[in-house]
This record gives sequence, structure tokens and C-alpha cells, in this order.
Amino acid sequence: MAVLVTGGLGYIGSHTVVELLNDGFEVVIVDDLSNSERFILKNIEEITGKKPFFYPFDLRRRELLTQVFDAHKIEGCINFAASKAVGESQLKPVDYYENNLFTLINILQEFKERGISNFIFSSSCTVYGQAEKMPIDENAPLKIPESVYGKTKQMGEEIITDFAKAYGRKISLLRYFNPIGAHPSGKLGELPMGIPNNLVPYVMQTAAGIRERLNIWGDDYDTEDGTPVRDYIYVVDLAKAHVSALKKLMQIGDETIIDIFNLGTGKGVSVLEVVKAFEIANDVKVPYQICARREGDITVAYANVDKAEKELHWKSETSLEESLKTVWKWQLYLDSQTV
Ligand code: NAD
Ligand code: WQD
Repeated sequence: MAVLVTGGLGYIGSHTVVELLNDGFEVVIVDDLSNSERFILKNIEEITGKKPFFYPFDLRRRELLTQVFDAHKIEGCINFAASKAVGESQLKPVDYYENNLFTLINILQEFKERGISNFIFSSSCTVYGQAEKMPIDENAPLKIPESVYGKTKQMGEEIITDFAKAYGRKISLLRYFNPIGAHPSGKLGELPMGIPNNLVPYVMQTAAGIRERLNIWGDDYDTEDGTPVRDYIYVVDLAKAHVSALKKLMQIGDETIIDIFNLGTGKGVSVLEVVKAFEIANDVKVPYQICARREGDITVAYANVDKAEKELHWKSETSLEESLKTVWKWQLYLDSQTV
């Protein structure tokens, strides 16, 4: 049984490929390496002792995608491939719409024509904006996203939902909260391309001395310590949720299924708490300064994970400290590769 994993050499994709291979799935990766590196494939093979199929091309090239579907008996897809930098999406809106939506439509066309079901989409808690009620459950109203990136996620959800309804297919929309951490082996993690926008990669590089100090974007929010609160979910736990979501779809018969799951820990943690936890977990210092708020940041977001627990029999298992230890191990691995 082959599963197509697009963006399978990326951050969340590579961890999910490991879990799928460990679970006995045959995996076919398509990734154009626009935000990843070939050594990730080698490391996946070292970790699992198995070889996924790998095709390095841009998913916008439909004719190449058709060849992959001709060559393998694809029974499902986890679609990670997308451009994901929120700030960049504002500067390059047409590129973001093209990459995130054309790739998706090309895969859905193949699914439609070949009668394939079982499609999983990487969505984001960004679709909720600043929700009224915490924790956020799957029925919370969606807000018009502030960023083009967020809009591509909301549009993607709508396109896939229409696909499922029209053709009677099974789909799962997974809304991640804030993924963090690296593989316990230290050989997979979030690749630092340029200056990181996200908190944990920035903390990691500050501890490593690559950045002088962390800028904390505001301590005047209406939270306990004044810094914004998020739900930081360990990437390996998140990867396992994909395997559960895929198995759930595959086990159900032929009826239309539109699953939506929030994937987080269910616990809110502030920026300052992340910094402290990182320092304690790794016995390092993270110099920081408090700056003005970052435009577009919300105050608080954490997930209600009851639905995922009940229907996927999944929950986050790894503590914040444990996941931050893996981040440091990954940084040390990257250092060892560049010496
Ligand atoms: P990532 O950039 O590490 O991985 C995406 C992968 O897709 C990369 O390896 C990239 O090379 C590949 N790719 C991009 N465009 C492609 C194309 N046209 N053809 C072939 N390959 C292409 O990102 P990630 O953090 O692993 O995120 C995976 C998915 O999860 C994305 O859809 C992202 O929007 C979503 N998501 C991420 C987060 C997060 O904080 N990391 C949160 C919520 C949702
Ligand atoms: C977390 C907190 C920052 C960096 C973004 C996307 C969202 C999703 C996940 C994909 C915030 C603070 C950060 C720094 C800081 N991605 N921070 N200094 O903003 O919750 O979500 O990534 O779907 O769509 O918007 O995550 O990691 O950027 O920030 O103080 O250098 O850390 O202000 O409060 P965010 P983040």
C-alpha cells in the first residue's frame, strides 16, 4: 500500500515519513527541495533502515506527477508541500497562491481521475484567527486570515471539502497548532533557511550564538506574564497523528468522510515560559530583549484536543522540556555537519 507524501523531506513531512515507514507503509515522496535538503532522505533511511521512493520535482508539473501515479499504486496522500513563511506571503502573494493551490489541485485531479480516496491536508490553527473561546475546538468560527499564507490554508480546506463532497471521497483536514522539536536521533529537524520567524528556531540559534539575542515581540498582552500564549506540539507526536488519521480513513468504507482535527497539546504556554524551559532543558543561556509587538500576532491560542483523542486515539505525549532537548540535539548535529 503506497502513500504519497508531498513535501516529505520538509520539517513535519520527514518526521511523518519515518512514522509511516516504521508502521509498514510504502512511502513515495515528492519534494522539489525548495525548502529542504537531500541529506534528509539519507537520514530518514538511516533512522528507519528503509528506503522510501523519492522524486525531486515541483508538484506544479502535472505531467511528472502523472508519471508517479502511473508508477505506483497510490492509496492515499499526505500533502505537506507548501510555502509557509507568513511575512513572505504578504510580499509574494501570487507566488503563494500559485504554489500552495496549484500543487493541491494537481494532486486532486489525479485523485479524481483515478478514483483514489484518503487525502490528508496540512492545515493550521491560523484559520481561527484570535478565537473568542479557549481552548479552541473544531467548531470555533473561522476568521478571514490576516496573511496570504493563512488564506491559502483556508482556501485549500474549501477546495478539498468540495472535492470530497462532489466525488464521495475521504479527507482529513489537520489543523496544527505550533509544531516544535526535532527527531530524538538529532538527525531530522526544522532547517534554518535565513533568519527564523518562528520562536523555537530563533531561540535555538540564539543559544548557539548565531543570533545575538532573541527579540520578544511584546510583553504587554493580556496574559499572565504579558507575553503571548501558544500551544507547542512536539513534531514526532504530530507525525504520529498523521498515521492515525490516515489509518482511520483507510479503515472506513467508501462513504464521504470529511474529518477535521485540531492537533496540539491542549496546553497554553507563554513566550517567556518557552525561553525558560529551553534554558533549563539544555543548561544554556538565551539572551533576550523585549520589543514592540509584531504585527498580526494574536494573544492566545491553544487547542481543545478531545476530538483527536476520541476519534484518532491519539494524544500528545512529550513534555515541552523533552521536545526542547531534541531541538538542541538537532542544533549540535547541524554544527557537526558544517565543521
Ligand atoms: P517545510 O517547508 O519544512 O516543508 C514543506 C516541503 O515541501 C519542503 O521540503 C519543500 O521543499 C516542499 N515543497 C514546497 N513547495 C513544493 C512544490 N511546489 N513541489 C514539491 N515540493 C514542494 O514546512 P513544514 O513546516 O514541514 O510544513 C508542512 C506543512 O504544514 C505545510 O503545508 C505548512 O503550511 C503546514 N503547517 C506548518 C506549520 C509549522 O509551523 N511548521 C504549522 C501549521 C501548518
Ligand atoms: C510564537 C510566539 C511571537 C519569534 C506562526 C504562523 C502560523 C503557524 C505557526 C503555519 C508569538 C513570539 C516569535 C521571535 C517572539 N504556521 N516570537 N520572537 O506566530 O504563533 O504562528 O507559525 O501554519 O500560521 O503565523 O508562531 O513561532 O512565529 O510565534 O517573541 O523571534 O513567539 O510573537 O507570540 P505563531 P511563532
